[in-house]
Amino acid sequence: MNKGLRYLAKPWFLSSALIVWSAFFAACMNSQSGQTQVAAPAISGATFVGAKECIACHEEKSNSFAHASHARLSVIAPDGKEISSCESCHGPASLHVKAGDGKHIINPGKSPESCFKCHVEKRGEFSLPNAHQVLNGKMSCGDCHDVHEGNAIKGSGAATLEAENETCTKCHTQQQGPYVFPHQAMREGCVSCHNPHGSVNKKMLAQRDANLCNKCHVEHPQGLSGGGPGYINVGGEDHRTRLQNGNCWTAGCHEAVHGSNASKALRY
Ligand code: HEC
Ligand code: HEC
Ligand code: HEC
Ligand code: HEC
Ligand code: HEC
Ligand code: HEC
Ligand code: HEC
Repeated sequence: MNKGLRYLAKPWFLSSALIVWSAFFAACMNSQSGQTQVAAPAISGATFVGAKECIACHEEKSNSFAHASHARLSVIAPDGKEISSCESCHGPASLHVKAGDGKHIINPGKSPESCFKCHVEKRGEFSLPNAHQVLNGKMSCGDCHDVHEGNAIKGSGAATLEAENETCTKCHTQQQGPYVFPHQAMREGCVSCHNPHGSVNKKMLAQRDANLCNKCHVEHPQGLSGGGPGYINVGGEDHRTRLQNGNCWTAGCHEAVHGSNASKALRY
């Protein structure tokens, strides 16, 4: 949520800021009581039937959903009734249940709109210049999140960062390794360097310059430890002149940021 604050200054954000924040804060504040003030998605001609109706045909999803973080949430239907669980994302299901086929139901795997009702700041993140292509439907929130089970970050059942990385490496096989010289940073997850929803920086990097690396690597901040003014101690060596040639990974030094098969110092 804090990530969203960054977008406050953007004009496109300001235009919808009020609606946005009231909706999202309502969603958050009330998550403890299991209620939100967000309007339910609509399907013309359909009414809400309740989650019990789904079990008969979707047993597996219904069972796992009982322990999902989103099972605690609810939305408000046009008649003021509180709608919990399945239909808060899939919309009113009366027509779907009656037909008993794959139609007349919202599939957020095809469009993120029902997620944006509560996670409205995510629309902004995916609008940034470097982002996964969710807004145009080429990818979906469901590629990385399974909202039907536990915590919605996919593969995080065991809550390990390695499992979270698998979410990414099933598509980005190149970054999976194994490498002869792995970079320990990968243990802290792809998200220690990338913003997975989107970023102003190329390659969805969290920072565009040496700060990306220095948050873990600078042992003594500038000027400390007797190195003199501007001293930059990385791995016990002064990096002042090196960093004048470019970034850590563009100056011809550590291009193999994900891991290397050639060098311990992460070179190709
Ligand atoms: C009488 C059986 C039946 C009931 C009851 C039922 N469904 Fe379905 N549903 C189906 C069938 C059949 C499909 C198509 C095959 C599949 O995806 O499993 C489907 C597909 C879906 C899809 C995927 C649609 C798509 O675009 O691919 C969603 C989402 C869905 N159902 C949600 C629900 C929800 C939520 C409920 C409860 C409110 C529900 N269903 C109740 C039979 C049912
Ligand atoms: C937080 C939003 C959310 C809630 C709540 C939710 N779903 Fe889904 N559902 C999704 C998304 C996203 C997809 C598409 C991606 C996927 O398959 O995970 C989906 C897909 C489905 C599908 C199609 C599966 C397929 O393999 O194509 C069915 C069926 C379904 N949901 C049933 C349910 C049932 C039943 C419940 C309640 C017990 C429920 N969902 C609750 C978001 C939700
Ligand atoms: C009715 C409002 C609502 C809808 C609709 C909704 N979410 Fe959420 N979601 C929340 C709230 C509130 C939280 C914070 C939960 C908490 O604090 O425990 C959350 C948390 C999350 C998280 C963080 C991990 C977790 O499980 O807590 C992810 C990921 C997420 N949602 C994805 C989605 C996706 C993807 C969709 C659409 C398929 C979706 N949400 C639809 C309200 C919603
Ligand atoms: C490319 C993979 C990917 C896609 C696609 C994706 N997410 Fe995420 N999302 C993540 C990862 C990874 C995290 C965990 C971030 C972390 O640990 O810092 C996350 C975290 C979240 C969170 C909780 C933390 C936060 O940033 O607020 C929410 C809510 C969320 N995602 C919602 C969504 C919604 C809604 C969509 C679709 C519109 C979506 N995500 C699509 C990978 C993805
Ligand atoms: C469903 C497949 C899929 C998943 C899962 C996925 N990505 Fe991607 N990713 C893509 C596609 C497709 C592109 C766009 C490539 C392009 O536009 O050339 C992309 C682009 C990227 C880029 C930018 C590459 C570039 O050349 O600009 C980064 C970085 C990235 N993804 C990281 C991640 C991370 C981190 C995760 C996990 C949180 C993740 N991806 C999950 C498919 C995926
Ligand atoms: C230590 C920081 C760091 C970590 C951790 C990290 N990346 Fe990267 N990644 C980078 C940098 C820096 C670049 C840009 C490299 C460049 O421009 O040459 C990059 C580029 C990429 C690209 C674009 C590929 C290309 O050749 O340009 C993809 C895809 C990617 N990363 C995916 C991932 C995935 C998936 C993970 C987790 C398994 C991950 N990254 C973890 C720093 C990191
Ligand atoms: C999340 C923390 C983290 C981030 C971010 C990070 N690293 Fe690392 N890196 C480590 C850890 C931990 C090690 C292994 C211990 C060590 O050698 O300091 C390591 C090792 C290295 C090594 C090998 C040092 C040696 O001689 O064995 C190089 C080179 C390196 N990192 C470069 C980078 C570059 C370049 C970036 C930015 C693109 C970066 N790191 C970002 C945590 C990180």
